[in-house]
Amino acid sequence: MKKTLVVYYSKTGTTAAAARVIMAATNGEGFELKPVTPFPDDMYETSDVAAAQYQAHQLPELVSVPDITEYDQILIGTPTWSSRMATPVAAFVSQTVFADKEVRFFATSVGQTTGLIDDFTAQLLSGDQKQPLILTKRPTEAEIHDWLN
Ligand SMILES: Cc1cc2nc3c(=O)[nH]c(=O)nc-3n(C[C@H](O)[C@H](O)[C@H](O)COP(=O)(O)O)c2cc1C
Repeated sequence: MKKTLVVYYSKTGTTAAAARVIMAATNGEGFELKPVTPFPDDMYETSDVAAAQYQAHQLPELVSVPDITEYDQILIGTPTWSSRMATPVAAFVSQTVFADKEVRFFATSVGQTTGLIDDFTAQLLSGDQKQPLILTKRPTEAEIHDWLN
């Protein structure tokens, strides 16, 4: 079985809940990304902060990043923010060398995800990226197995 690390950011818990299902289905370990400076509670303010971070190419500083050396497969989870990945996840991706790792993204959303897949492709500069899993509700184990196999 592939050794799996599920790396995710979650502002309000939805992506964390999906990550837990994915960890259980893959027997994977989890790593939650935390920005040094938390985002505002308000969605619109968060949207503005994230847009400014993307615009200035100043992605948020993270408390820590995982060591991915010992894993075969890295599953990266993000909320959808204005049809892009959340900036803490972009920060992780931009400072990690995935080399020969198998990398797959999953995103939670409320269903407005046009452009999100292009963002995954654009952000991931190396590694073997396959089809992302885009969710509007908590995934089932069958859905996860379909995605990964
Ligand atoms: C700043 C911001 C922007 C968002 N933009 C989108 C969007 O473009 N499309 C969408 O479907 N959901 C959008 N959402 C909703 C979140 O993607 C969704 O609620 C997600 O599951 C939250 O994950 P979390 O609880 O792990 O933070 C946005 C939420 C926030 C806070």
